[in-house]
Amino acid sequence: MELINVRLSAGGNSIIILNQTRLPGKTEYKELCTAEEFYHAIYSLEVRGAPCIGIFAAYALAVLCGRIDTGSFEEFRSQLIRYKNYLNSARPTAVNLGKMLNRIESHAVTHKNLPIDKLKKELLSEAVSIHEEDKQMCFKISDYGLSLVKDGDSILTHCNAGPLATSRYGTAQGPFFLAKERGISLKAYCDETRPLLQGARITTYELSKSGIDCTLICDSMASMVMKQGLIDAVFVGCDRVAVNGDAANKIGTSGVAVLAKYYGIPFYVLGPSSTIDFSCRTGDDIEIEYRDSSEIKSLFFSGPVALPEVKCINPSFDVTPNELITAIVTERGICRAPYEDSFRKLFPEQFTKLL
Ligand code: MRU
Repeated sequence: MELINVRLSAGGNSIIILNQTRLPGKTEYKELCTAEEFYHAIYSLEVRGAPCIGIFAAYALAVLCGRIDTGSFEEFRSQLIRYKNYLNSARPTAVNLGKMLNRIESHAVTHKNLPIDKLKKELLSEAVSIHEEDKQMCFKISDYGLSLVKDGDSILTHCNAGPLATSRYGTAQGPFFLAKERGISLKAYCDETRPLLQGARITTYELSKSGIDCTLICDSMASMVMKQGLIDAVFVGCDRVAVNGDAANKIGTSGVAVLAKYYGIPFYVLGPSSTIDFSCRTGDDIEIEYRDSSEIKSLFFSGPVALPEVKCINPSFDVTPNELITAIVTERGICRAPYEDSFRKLFPEQFTKLL
């Protein structure tokens, strides 16, 4: 199964997305043109998953820059920054959003001496490079992830970190697809992932359409399946990882990590280095997104499941403390505690930049 989640239109003036809010019932592609449509797609989770948001935002900014009508680089850059800040405000937790927008801006600065028309083309090709790099990173992460498990293992997943949340393969779901290609049998237990059901709607969709053995469970059943000895490892993705290894991911992830520790099951976080925020010392520095209570009280139900006046909080992410994480799997290798030391060895250039 190869579904394309994000792609630039042939003329480079709009972006085609697969609307992930309609899955699994509808495979709906949408063409987006305006800054407001790009913002809405990120905010409403039509495009979602940290790497996919970053890829989409890079295309979006490059497309918007293509419409800036000026011959002056300074004016071009100030309009670029306005678009960048607007898109970046759509969701706060996934660091890839801001990082990829910054990368487009830096690329513009590096090429500021080009005529504006050529500069616009440069930005589009930088967005394409971001997309291509993600495909390669996902492959490497999947390969390292696969080395942590063996033929016949069963793995619990939370949320969705497959091809639709990234590019090809995915991160936390990548080892399943790679295993399938290599004739290795892995079985997935997928948390439904309340309240937006990314596990039920998207992860099981991707896995079962690819012929991978997967079983859907409610989030509240994770403890029971672990206790029954059905789970050999947990694979989750990440939206922002602090330098000490604390990892923000979809709400409910930290609870799964606590359960895994209790039952002695390895808990792995898989993500590209673009998801490590080298400016966050610990998980306390990570901003958690809060979303509308309708997502809990009515969105996926035929009628309300709580009175409208009932108070509700809807944090979209939580932070798993590094001591509950067995390893963090990146495209350059597998990091283990103490994570800062491990990150320093694999990503020395990031620490040089900080000095
Ligand atoms: O709110 P979402 O669906 O964008 O959240 C996505 C997740 O939490 C994923 O698990 C994470 O981004 C990793 S995607 C490779």
